[in-house]
Amino acid sequence: MSVHHQEVPSLLERVAATMSGAIGRVREDLAGADPVVRRSERADFQCNAPLALAKRVGVRPADLAADVVARLDVEGDAVIASVEPSGPGFLNVTVTGGAIWDQVAARLADARLGVGATEEGRRVVVDYSAPNIAKEMHVGHLRTTIIGDSLARVAGFLGADVLRQNHLGDFGTQFGMLIQYLDEHPDAAWHQDELAGGASAVSALDGLYRSARAEFDADPGFADRSRARVVALQAGDPRTVAVWQDIVAESERSFSAIYDRLTVLLTPEDSVGESFYNPMLADTVEELVDAGLAVESDGALVFYSREVTGPEGKPVTLMVRKRDGGYGYDTTDLATIRYRLRELKANRLIYVTDSRQALHFQLVFEAARRAGWLTDGVTAEHAAYGTILGPDGTPFKTRAGGTVRLMDLLDDAVSRARAAVTEKNPGLDPVELDRIAESAGIAAVKYADLSTSRVKDYSFDVDRMVSLTGNTGVYLQYAHARISSILRHAGDPGTAVDRTVAPEPAERELGLALDAYGAVVTEVGATLEPHRLCGYLYDLARAFTSFYENCPVLKAEEPVRGNRLALCRLTARTLGHGLGLLGITAPERM
Ligand code: ARG
Repeated sequence: MSVHHQEVPSLLERVAATMSGAIGRVREDLAGADPVVRRSERADFQCNAPLALAKRVGVRPADLAADVVARLDVEGDAVIASVEPSGPGFLNVTVTGGAIWDQVAARLADARLGVGATEEGRRVVVDYSAPNIAKEMHVGHLRTTIIGDSLARVAGFLGADVLRQNHLGDFGTQFGMLIQYLDEHPDAAWHQDELAGGASAVSALDGLYRSARAEFDADPGFADRSRARVVALQAGDPRTVAVWQDIVAESERSFSAIYDRLTVLLTPEDSVGESFYNPMLADTVEELVDAGLAVESDGALVFYSREVTGPEGKPVTLMVRKRDGGYGYDTTDLATIRYRLRELKANRLIYVTDSRQALHFQLVFEAARRAGWLTDGVTAEHAAYGTILGPDGTPFKTRAGGTVRLMDLLDDAVSRARAAVTEKNPGLDPVELDRIAESAGIAAVKYADLSTSRVKDYSFDVDRMVSLTGNTGVYLQYAHARISSILRHAGDPGTAVDRTVAPEPAERELGLALDAYGAVVTEVGATLEPHRLCGYLYDLARAFTSFYENCPVLKAEEPVRGNRLALCRLTARTLGHGLGLLGITAPERM
């Protein structure tokens, strides 16, 4: 397999270019207009331009369609075999068999499957995951971690210089209390290596924090000492800071265990928590005050939105500095966006948090624009997502009504995947089974999340997620493994494609489905909607199934066999690659 990159224009793009040229020749005033070429049920492609454009130039769509056909000379065209007017002003376009095979061969020969690097030269910041230290990761961190990781992978594949930013909640008065408590209870075990049975440091810290809270409420002396500890932490007292750093490091170890399991890209180098911006808060505030953007209100400093108004015309604000002089979440995000634009020189900012933070980010972006940090040509986007619901349609909780720990949720998914895999394949050896169950269980959770439209809520239904049939991650993994197995049986490594063989309808369908891969990946990069890629991969897997049912591969004679193997190879690579962009592993054997 060659590793060079040769961008392969899709058949759709090539058809669109030809149609656009013909339309421009018929009517000069329509030159350059979108020819509206789409995949079609009735032909390979449909061109809707006559219908869409006729009104603009005052002619009948059917007449415009007929003129376009008359001006097209497809005789001997390498791509277009025929163009037929249809309906009130559509054109049905059929492409040549040779063009389909050429397309398959060209994508197969390219390390990037022919996909262009549309984000090249751009620096993209993806803010995702962002759990709070000394606390366990729970179901509320699942979507940001999974979606953010996929968006980072897609942007990176499209050529962007991606900076992953894990905006850890690592700063706040609660840590003063926790540190004071640890100081007064030296026997409290919380480091990973002191804990029995693989319990995590964050789960121990979570418990100790609760005890600290109780003592804080019950004992005024402890409460005073805790407050003094907050001051010591903020003033940089070395001993206090050392304990805080220890807590951060142990927390990160616990988060890493989840990240490894979820096979997400985040590493400790990507952690740039709230504390990082602490030294920049005063400057940020001063700049906003000087620009007249932060104004006094009741002893505090606030930013008033011009773009958003609340109920009854009430102003909507960000809290820039509290009455007691303290800074909170809003101020940190103002300093953060300023830093990412000024110092990191990002061209695009993507924040992956739940949709309840939509207003917060809208105001942060507005403030950044008005402060002159966020300039034209640079985009800031909130990739907002909906809530994970339980079977009863309310936010997902444990049976006892508690928060669902992420580790427990993953364990559960893996054990159900194990059951589903065993049922399909009872003879697997235990080590193989472990490997497949882990991979399938994680795939199930990630795919279920990514395949729902981002902004929608969805209900967490593990049994449906691990199903081997239907639109699930496990189904796609099996499809990929099945094709890999066909290829292993084929044995020969040849990649020759004979373009003179007329493709069967199912070969044509599969070839055209493969042709659309680049467009869908580019679209995900632009819209930040991974569910489009999920839908594409599912359709591709189904196109493969119907091809495989209709077209014997291994038993076919050459050159048909070689062409079919090329389709198998490109389908396996496209499925594997697409799953990779979703952050889902695609084992060759399952
Ligand atoms: N730590 C926050 C939470 O758990 C999310 C932070 C998101 N990122 C940001 N820049 N505000 O809700």
